[in-house]
Amino acid sequence: MFKVPPIPAQRLPELLRSMPKAELHIHIEGSLEPELIFALAERNHLPLPYASVEALRSAYAFSNLQSFLDIYYAGASVLLHEPDFYDMARAYLARAARDNVVHAEIFFDPQTHTARGVPIESVINGLHRACEDARAELGISSSLILCFLRHLSEEDALATLEQALPLQDKFIGVGLDSSEVGHPPEKFARVFARCRELGLHLVAHAGEEGPPAYIWSALEVLHVERIDHGVQALRDPALVQRLAQDRIPLTVCPLSNQKLCVFPQLKDHNLKQLLEAGLMATVNSDDPAYFGGYLNDNLVQVFAATGMTARHAYQLAFNSFEASFAPESDKRAWEHRLKESFERFVEHD
Ligand code: ADE
Ligand code: ZN
Repeated sequence: MFKVPPIPAQRLPELLRSMPKAELHIHIEGSLEPELIFALAERNHLPLPYASVEALRSAYAFSNLQSFLDIYYAGASVLLHEPDFYDMARAYLARAARDNVVHAEIFFDPQTHTARGVPIESVINGLHRACEDARAELGISSSLILCFLRHLSEEDALATLEQALPLQDKFIGVGLDSSEVGHPPEKFARVFARCRELGLHLVAHAGEEGPPAYIWSALEVLHVERIDHGVQALRDPALVQRLAQDRIPLTVCPLSNQKLCVFPQLKDHNLKQLLEAGLMATVNSDDPAYFGGYLNDNLVQVFAATGMTARHAYQLAFNSFEASFAPESDKRAWEHRLKESFERFVEHD
């Protein structure tokens, strides 16, 4: 392992911003900025219950996950046609590239759109084309992960999977999101078993607000490869041991956890403890347009609040590549660039 040089705390923000990194937990509908919501509403001749961009933004005050989801699904209702999905994803990828994100694995929620009569082809083709164009024009690599909404039935998830299968070459895996408590992973055992047979990658949100038991069942029943959030794991020492032993990545989202009151304040976040317990934690933005920050904002703010160091920074960026579903050759190339970025940083002192 690379020996990380000591770097003074005041230079950490610059280091965090400049290091190459992957983002593995971003809901593309959560990247929809108020300005784009207004532009799409106008383009699609849809009324909005807010007088201005500022009025919409000022409604972003949440007390828990559900209070956020209600406004998030309302925001996504301006997406109707393929170019809308394209524009949303293209804007996210351009913004991510500015944070030195070199690879993104992007969640999308097809049921949010198909329930309003939007063809699944418009959703997937628009997003996929944006990923291809961003690779060609910005050099950023990205892939798509289809998420099932856990507040809906497993039958609905199975029907959604069948609709998506003709486009299977355009997404690499499936996930599970939306209202966690009361909707445990085992509710989706059959649809995940089918996805496993199809060779799709598997991830699930678990232990965001829900108990460690949901992380256990995501692992044991759904056989997921990564846990999204997973911050409740520290409540169960046997689970921590399992996650460490099997190197199961956790895609942690500090500003999301703060804004949804999972932790009272950012200084109370347990990211540092997760890393120091030997877990493969990564940092991600979840829904950056709603939680006040993209990936670098998450890193800079959580480092300042919890007193993490350059060693933690290197570990988090390294983990983000290791935990990705990218080819091994890409991982090695990004890890090499990461090491160079730290060396260059010290040389230019
Ligand atoms: N959908 C978008 N953001 C989410 C989150 N943080 N948890 C569950 N579902 C989500
Ligand atoms: Zn999420």
